[in-house]
Amino acid sequence: MKIAIPRERRPDETRVAATPETVKKLKALGFEVVVEAGAGTAAAFPDAAYEAAGAALAADAAAAYEQADIVFKVQRPMMAGEGDLYEVGLLRPGTTLFSPLGALSNPALIEALAAAKVDAFALELTPRITRAQSMDVLSSQANLAGYKAVIDAAAAFSRAFPMMMTPAGTIAPAKVFIMGVGVAGLQAIATARRLGGVVSATDVRPATKEQVQSLGAKFIAVEDEEFKAAETAEGYAREMSAAYQSKQAALLAEHIKAQDIVITTALIPGRKAPVLVSEDMVKTMKPGSVILDMAVEQGGNCPLSEFGRTVIRHDVKIIGPANLPAGLATDASALFARNLLNFITPLVDTETKALKISMDDEVVKGALVTQGGAVIHPSLKAAA
Ligand code: NAI
Repeated sequence: MKIAIPRERRPDETRVAATPETVKKLKALGFEVVVEAGAGTAAAFPDAAYEAAGAALAADAAAAYEQADIVFKVQRPMMAGEGDLYEVGLLRPGTTLFSPLGALSNPALIEALAAAKVDAFALELTPRITRAQSMDVLSSQANLAGYKAVIDAAAAFSRAFPMMMTPAGTIAPAKVFIMGVGVAGLQAIATARRLGGVVSATDVRPATKEQVQSLGAKFIAVEDEEFKAAETAEGYAREMSAAYQSKQAALLAEHIKAQDIVITTALIPGRKAPVLVSEDMVKTMKPGSVILDMAVEQGGNCPLSEFGRTVIRHDVKIIGPANLPAGLATDASALFARNLLNFITPLVDTETKALKISMDDEVVKGALVTQGGAVIHPSLKAAA
C-alpha cells in the first residue's frame, strides 16, 4: 500500500504530515511512501532527506494523489474554489485519508468526502483515552502553540518579562494572565514563568486549579456549584450559563486591568469560542499591553481580535494568530508525523500489510467519519 504526503497548500501552512524519520518507520511497517516534491521544505526537511529515508518523490500534487491508497495531511483538503488546488477532487475513490477535518464545523466537506468514496479519519475526533495520547494531534500542536503564543506576545511587548535590578533602576516583571488552561494554556503558563513573568490563570474546569498552582501560577475563577460541574466526561468544558458568565466577567474585569499580557485559549468543542475579554475590559488595560487570542479562528475570546492580523485598539496590541504551530514547523511536523505513525500502526494487518479497520476499536469508532461512500459518524449522520 502506498501512502502519499502532499505539500500543504493552505495559506500560512508550513508543516508536513511525515518526516524522514516517520517515512523510515512507515516503510518498516510495509508501506511505500510517496512525497510531493517540496512538501517538507518549509519545515526544513529537504526532498533529499525523504529520498534517503526511502520515499519516492512525486513531481506535483496530482502525481502524488493518483498513486495513493492512503493520504496523510496536516490541513483538511480544500474543496472546489477554496484555494488554488481542488484537493478533494484529487482523492481517488477508495483512498483512506488521515487528516484533521474540523468535521463538526465542516459538514459539506464530510459529505464531499463520502461522495468521493474516500474513507476519512477526522484526527480531531480521536478519543482522549490514555491509549490514544500518542496519536493526539490536537494535544501535540496545542502544546507547541501555547509556547509560541508566549514567545510572540513577548516579542510584541515593549517591555521585559523578568524583574531586573540594574544600576539605572528596577524593571518590574511582566504580569501575564492565561485564560483557558487546557493543553495550550498549561504550556503558556510554564513558558511565561520560565521567562520570568508573574503568571495567573483562569478556567471553568475545577481540575485546572491544582494544575495552575503546581506550575507556580495564581488561579483566578468564580468557584461556585456550576464551576464544580463544568467538566464533561470527555474532559472538555461545558458552555457556561449566562449567570455564570456575568459573574466571571465581573471578576475577570478587575483582574485584567492590572495585566500586561493576556493570552486567551478558551474553547468549547463544536461551538463558538466564549467571549472573555470585552472591549470595555480592553479599555481598562495599560497602553502597550498585549492580548494574544488563540481562539481567533473559532470566533475569538476577544471581539476585537482579527484573524491573521495584529491590531492596536485602545492602545493595546491585539494579536490574532493564523497558525501558531506553523511558526515552529520543524518540531510541529515531527510531533504531528509521529502522531500519525502511532495512529496507523495498530490499523496495519501484520500479515497482509494492508489496513484492517475494525469498528470494535474505540479510536476507529471515534474518528472514522466516512466509509464506503457514506457518512458514518454518529455525531455527523444526523446533520447529513
Ligand atoms: P480546549 O482547547 O477545548 O479548551 C481550552 C481550555 O479552555 C479548556 O481548559 C477549557 O476548560 C477552557 N475554557 C472553555 N470555556 C471557558 C471559559 N468560559 N472560561 C475559561 N476557560 C474556558 O481544551 P484542550 O486543551 O483540548 O484540553 C481539554 C482537556 O482534555 C484538558 O484537561 C486536557 O488535559 C485533557 N486532555 C486529555 C487527553 C487524554 O487523556 N488523552 C489528551 C489531551 C487533553
